[in-house]
Amino acid sequence: MCGIVGAVASRDITPVLLDGLRRLEYRGYDSAGLAVVNQDDEIDARRAVGRVAALEEIVNGVNGHLGIAHTRWATHGRPAEHNAHPQLSSTDVAVVHNGIIENHQELREQQLAAGYTFTSETDTEVIVHQIDSHMKAGADLLSAVQKTVDELKGAYGLGVISRHAPNTLVAARRGSPLLIGLGEAENFVASDMSALIPVARKYMVLEDGDIACVKQDSVQIFDQNHKPIERKVLVSTLSDAETELEGYAHFMKKEIHEQTRAITETLEGRLGANTVLEIPLGKNAKEIFDATKEIKIVACGTSYNAACVARYWFEEFGVRCDVEIASEYRYRKHVVNPGTLFVTISQSGETLDTMAALDMAKGLGYTNTLCVCNAPESSLVRASDLTIFTHAGREIGVASTKAFTTQLVTLMLLALCLRRRALGLDYDGDEVEHEIVQELRSLPNQIEHALSLEDEIIAMSKHFADKHHSLFLGRGMHFPIAVEGALKLKEISYIHAEAYAAGELKHGPLALVDKDMPVVAVAPNDELLEKLKSNLEEVRARGGQLFVFADAHSGIVSDNDTMVLNVAPVNNHIAPIIYTIPLQLLSYHVALIKGTDIDKPRNLAKSVTVE
Ligand code: F6R
Repeated sequence: MCGIVGAVASRDITPVLLDGLRRLEYRGYDSAGLAVVNQDDEIDARRAVGRVAALEEIVNGVNGHLGIAHTRWATHGRPAEHNAHPQLSSTDVAVVHNGIIENHQELREQQLAAGYTFTSETDTEVIVHQIDSHMKAGADLLSAVQKTVDELKGAYGLGVISRHAPNTLVAARRGSPLLIGLGEAENFVASDMSALIPVARKYMVLEDGDIACVKQDSVQIFDQNHKPIERKVLVSTLSDAETELEGYAHFMKKEIHEQTRAITETLEGRLGANTVLEIPLGKNAKEIFDATKEIKIVACGTSYNAACVARYWFEEFGVRCDVEIASEYRYRKHVVNPGTLFVTISQSGETLDTMAALDMAKGLGYTNTLCVCNAPESSLVRASDLTIFTHAGREIGVASTKAFTTQLVTLMLLALCLRRRALGLDYDGDEVEHEIVQELRSLPNQIEHALSLEDEIIAMSKHFADKHHSLFLGRGMHFPIAVEGALKLKEISYIHAEAYAAGELKHGPLALVDKDMPVVAVAPNDELLEKLKSNLEEVRARGGQLFVFADAHSGIVSDNDTMVLNVAPVNNHIAPIIYTIPLQLLSYHVALIKGTDIDKPRNLAKSVTVE
């Protein structure tokens, strides 16, 4: 999704801006641009559709000490050079913008009446004209931005420069993350600290309504009432190590294979001999768990699928659990029972719908808020009473892989902590907890085994490459795993993939089954296996082609219509984590054959910071 970088320094900042944009590429975008104030105090701007590499080809001779840059993910106006950012008001002011301005139409009409002309279809162009109009009326850059944001409705992260203020970068934020990186006699602005790894370790996070006036040797921040305010200086722990491919063809493949190590880190320091330790989950964890009678989980996409799996665990353990998609949750009325813990799950910690749901939940009487998150320096973490980090390490591929499995492991830890309370067990848990803890310890080995199935999965993937549709089936807690498998396949191979609880097949989707519709099934050896086998017979009877990920003892065997991939027997509770791996590999290898842009699939973004 859109990314912002800005810099003010004594050196030429064009290379810094380009490097920052490259570091934000993983968020997903469709065009890029930058603008600097050059030595003649003029704005020099370049924009290109496509990759940052295309922008690099046209920035020769663009030099300056002050500048802003942007990767755009289209919302208002198609991906095109004239819609890319920076947006300019004549040659005087340039703006980069993340977010959506809701009253852009009204402002556009006023500005047209005042004689402004428009060169784009973006909602951003009204911002730059509005700032320009205030400057023309006598305001300096900072007060022009302050006046402008008071007139905007919607969400924004802004970087603004003007040729009339050649030493000043103004940044403003409401509803879209923005931070200030502090260098040595140079300062920066970015929507994500990863853009600034080589140039700044120290940073300040702008809060909603803040406006910052950033110069080479000073940063002044003003709150939403335009009063000067101090924001805490933090030190970033991000490093470059995780942004290297290390010999893999794609980040997605690297991240699939990293799951052994990632899950080891999720568990690190959190397991005692037989139990889940609570203190390492956070200093207020015990107090929050003690106050919890039931939970409500809200998330999007893959993180929502993790929540759907975890619901089976929570309810089996006696904890009432409700799960909802964030974009739906935030637009309806709610009845909140006393003692309900509001849980968000998010890899990035920046997903706007999830953040907005949390903001809304805070006024609704939930007892506490907890976030399961992978990004320590993120908005959701800052806004939650407690965060349990997944410790997956940076995920670059747009399709979530290790983020998902580490979310599942983290949710299992939470479920076991709440189980003790629900069942009135003491801190040593019970046999079930002891058994699951040992299974969790064995996860890295079991994942290694699942990864070793890759060659067989490559053979299987060849059957999908020429298909346009597919069905994914699962039952019980493997239904959401089928949903996640379908999501992976559709997002990176662009094959239409639908997931069904296998028992639903006969209520409609069976009509779709024929030899051109591969049917993928997840078949662990659990209490629903026999039911699932009957569902698979329904597919075979209609000439469907089955691809089954089955427990080695399931009794399901390959034949002309059925290709079975045997998965080593695994404890039922952690089976969803293991069965995820072959599904990830399947989608990866299908996409590889199809030659799609696996790490940056079309139309998608890594960090979804618009509604
Ligand atoms: C799919 C995927 C998305 C994200 C969703 C939520 O592979 O990655 O569906 O899961 O956009 O993102 P987070 O977890 O960052 O809130």
